[in-house]
Amino acid sequence: MTSLSPTTQNRDVRQLGINPNHWYVVASSAEVKTEPLGVTLWHQPIVIYRDSAGKIHALEDRCPHRQVKLSHGKVIGENLECAYHGWRFNGDGQCAEVPYLAANQKLPNCDIRRYPVQEKDGFIWLFPGDETLAETISPMGLPEWEHLNYIGSVAIIHCQAHYSYLIENLMDMYHGHLHQDWQAWANPVLQDIDEDDNRVDAHYQAQSYYKIDKIWSISQLFFPALRRLHPEPLDVSYVYPHWASTLGKDFKIYCLPCPVNETETRAYLIHFTSLNAFWRLHKLPVWFRRFVKDICFNAAKGLLEGLVRQDVEMIEEEQQAYLQNPERRNYELNRALVSVQKLMKSQVEKV
Ligand code: FES
Ligand SMILES: [Fe+2]
Repeated sequence: MTSLSPTTQNRDVRQLGINPNHWYVVASSAEVKTEPLGVTLWHQPIVIYRDSAGKIHALEDRCPHRQVKLSHGKVIGENLECAYHGWRFNGDGQCAEVPYLAANQKLPNCDIRRYPVQEKDGFIWLFPGDETLAETISPMGLPEWEHLNYIGSVAIIHCQAHYSYLIENLMDMYHGHLHQDWQAWANPVLQDIDEDDNRVDAHYQAQSYYKIDKIWSISQLFFPALRRLHPEPLDVSYVYPHWASTLGKDFKIYCLPCPVNETETRAYLIHFTSLNAFWRLHKLPVWFRRFVKDICFNAAKGLLEGLVRQDVEMIEEEQQAYLQNPERRNYELNRALVSVQKLMKSQVEKV
């Protein structure tokens, strides 16, 4: 179990930074097409671009010539061209071309920072910390993303709040009250918690109607009258800096946060429904299974977005209340949240 120094223990969790020595998701693959994309990960403006060969690069979002944003430029071959005077930069952040360079002038030596970046399982994973560590750690990835037995749906979370509020919301299964039973679980009871230096696993026992074993099972999501509750284990894990949850065998959900600053967080919520029970489907040709997977992609998006809206409203209200009265303390009864706060603090202490 993690032990904290007295100084870290007393730190205000709503003011915490991040441990940059992890892979963070900064965009989905679908968001990075031919145009460069500007993102912010914990105060750092970063430009992501896909070169003409399809490879992803990530650079500081700043042209060293006059400090404007490179994300306003465009991709030329494997370089990124600044919108202002057309200087071009390669994927290593070096100036590769200046259109008006005189014959007797050398290219300026004005490197900008490049970030280790990988495209994996539908998302762009970036390592904002010590570059030498990036090679020793792999991005978490989503094994279900490519798996033909899982149907994925993605919702974007964008809230004006510190990331700790989002993680605490996701780890506290008692907030089903807010969703008025539109969530897949009911009557949760926290059983026990496992914790180590990198993760907190909270095990709840819950009731669920979520069992995807008939072709019409999915309709339970939309028609509460069809639901049959049965007991299921509900596990939620904070695997720093990400979150994952399973409910029985058929339900898997991830949250991949991109903390922007102390009062803003973006995140991707990815839900997977399992088709494991449909063994007849598994005998069909792969192209057909892929077709089913693709055509059903985002089937639960609307439902996820509805839940996210409710959560974001509460999270932002918590942040506002904190900003108005930062000295007020909460009365927390859920032990999992105490563990989560401890993990956030210990991760930041490592930096
Ligand atoms: S500011 Fe970028 S090329 Fe001049
Ligand atoms: Fe929720």
